[in-house]
Amino acid sequence: MSDAWQPDQYARFRTEREQPFHDLLALVEPVPGGRVVDLGCGTGVLTRVLHERTGAAETVGVDRSEAMLAQSAEHAGGGVHFEQGDIATFDAGGFDVVFSNAALQWVDDHEALFPRLAATLGEGGQLAAQMPMNHDHVSHTVAHDVAREARHAEALDEYVRGYPLREAEWYAEMLARSGFEEQHVRLQVYLHRLAGPEEVVEWMKGSLLTDYRRRLSPEAYEVYLADYRERLLEVLADERPFLLPFKRILLWGRMGARGGGSA
Ligand SMILES: C[S@@+](CC[C@H](N)C(=O)[O-])C[C@H]1O[C@@H](n2cnc3c(N)ncnc32)[C@H](O)[C@@H]1O
Repeated sequence: MSDAWQPDQYARFRTEREQPFHDLLALVEPVPGGRVVDLGCGTGVLTRVLHERTGAAETVGVDRSEAMLAQSAEHAGGGVHFEQGDIATFDAGGFDVVFSNAALQWVDDHEALFPRLAATLGEGGQLAAQMPMNHDHVSHTVAHDVAREARHAEALDEYVRGYPLREAEWYAEMLARSGFEEQHVRLQVYLHRLAGPEEVVEWMKGSLLTDYRRRLSPEAYEVYLADYRERLLEVLADERPFLLPFKRILLWGRMGARGGGSA
């Protein structure tokens, strides 16, 4: 499957996308001289901010997209480095902070993923993650409905993107069961003011739709995208500015004396 991430498309809504990162970062306690990992670091621009804010001696950014990592060299150095890897198999052992902004929603089986990440942390270790929870918004449901339409279903080999996230309460319980003595879990609605409804298509092209893009030929993706745009604009209000409410979950925990527990 091809690498469908496009850093420039993703960066089109940079200001809106960065606010949740800063809100998550505000939950993390500094670890002077420590080690931090940023899972799904993208271009690495925010990994540098994470490194400076935590005061870590070393911060490692991990991402599986070559296209996103292509820009990371300019943010490397002074204790920050980047490597290509898959979060699903990455060994996060030896870090004081396991951080992930807007990436773990791409990894399946949270029942296994989160306890596995927790188990890598020692006493005082922190886990911090932010994930979109906007799966019930039409920008998402229409993407999957279009994927189910006959001509796209055939090109996609019947693939429809699943949704690995659990409800917010589950993350709170999981953190407690995994040995985190302190925690903060919250749902937050970010209200974005976009120029118009067509901007929602541009937003989704930079994130959700990458999953369909990487499974389709360029020609088949263009057809899919045209159908998505048409169906979505039929149901979105034709307002300017356009209000896009976007739900996200932010979670943070600090490991107790027992260290990496069992969920
Ligand atoms: C929405 S971007 C977020 C990038 C960055 N954390 C930020 O806040 O700007 C999601 C990133 O997760 C990466 N990603 C998705 N699934 C991944 C996986 N299984 N392993 C590693 N990286 C992954 C993508 O390549 C992409 O760069």
